[in-house]
Amino acid sequence: MSESYIQNLFADRIGGSQYGKSQNIYKFEKIKRAKRAAMAMNPNAEIIDLGVGEPDDMAFPEIIAKLSTEAAKLENRGYADNGDANLKQAAARYMDSVLGVKGIDPETEIIHSIGSKAALSILPAALVNPGDFVLMTVPGYPVFGTHARYYGGMVYNLKLTPENNFLPDLNSVPAEALRKTKALVLNYPNNPTGASATPEFFARVVEFAQKNKIVVIHDAAYAGLIFEGKPLSFLATPGAKDVGVELHSVSKSYNMTGWRCGFVVGNPLLVKAYGDVKDNTDSGQFLAIQHAAAHCLEHPEITQKIAAKYSRRMDGLVKLLNNAGFDAQKPKGSFFLYVKAPKAAQIKDGKRIQFSNGEDVSQWLIAEKLISTVPWDDAGAALRFSVTFAAKTVEDENRILGEIASRLKGVKFEF
Ligand SMILES: Cc1ncc(COP(=O)(O)O)c(C=O)c1O
Repeated sequence: MSESYIQNLFADRIGGSQYGKSQNIYKFEKIKRAKRAAMAMNPNAEIIDLGVGEPDDMAFPEIIAKLSTEAAKLENRGYADNGDANLKQAAARYMDSVLGVKGIDPETEIIHSIGSKAALSILPAALVNPGDFVLMTVPGYPVFGTHARYYGGMVYNLKLTPENNFLPDLNSVPAEALRKTKALVLNYPNNPTGASATPEFFARVVEFAQKNKIVVIHDAAYAGLIFEGKPLSFLATPGAKDVGVELHSVSKSYNMTGWRCGFVVGNPLLVKAYGDVKDNTDSGQFLAIQHAAAHCLEHPEITQKIAAKYSRRMDGLVKLLNNAGFDAQKPKGSFFLYVKAPKAAQIKDGKRIQFSNGEDVSQWLIAEKLISTVPWDDAGAALRFSVTFAAKTVEDENRILGEIASRLKGVKFEF
């Protein structure tokens, strides 16, 4: 069959006429395929999925009830555009009472998003011209950088490593790149490292942004999911509102990934520009969902309960991985445990398997131990274990943790 003329119409940013022809299989597709193969080989065995990046449980009943009430209201039926006052006001109160960020103007300094991913895809349109640089941390969530490239921008990667406590070295950006830099994108608590920022680091970020005249986008998708202390907002840093915005979402903090709702808060000029591009991108999230999300923000104790569950699971996972020879340290927040990948494993009868990177280890774990993880090889070979594995009760949680421990028993990992 001859090739469709459509093949020659694709934009260069997605591969032009070569679009869809690459033989490269991307990481998450490789994991999916390996999982499918493991299931086919072991049809009666339980696959333990520590790879998922979203909550295993659903939204709390009162939030579902609120959605139901709001969905039945005539006035909520239409295009929401950039939203009504409801979520904006609840978000401003949340910033104050939960994050200690005073004086946010709900009218001019907050606009909802159809999830943080949508906001991260919209903001580059407001900032990036061809040739502009954006600073992104790796390993990390790449959406802002992908869209920056779509607009002809360049991404400069800042590595997160145990040596820098997973906080980027801002002084490492070459002067030439820095001169062309428009934005620095950060994410704490961090996916995938689980690391948290500190007020001192955020103070350095504000100083860096002011000195170099760049914008800071802080993706706080895991903001409330912390295991100790109080959640930390970038906007609580003196001067932060002069340089940037923060992205919040109910996805992870309220078990609502599928509901698609969050908000952008901070610098009014940036919020306005986000709103202008957003207005030309979507027609707003369903008001009933926005109002249910607003209700969430009035109930931060929901996030605390979810965080307590992850903290409990994390304790168990850290312990069993350390017993298996890993160097696992409980993070202060998120639901991710990021550990150095082993270089080799000795199994029964003295057989030794050599791994060249995190991906090798991850593939071996799924194929041989039916344990799914996510490898990260951008800044050293590492594995990400997520404590969002499916378990309905504490007993089931303990059973699964026990099962992981027993599957790793008898393996001697070398690092
Ligand atoms: C760092 C980070 N930012 C943003 C998102 C997307 O969040 P949302 O569901 O609000 O679009 C994710 C989801 O995995 C994430 O890990």
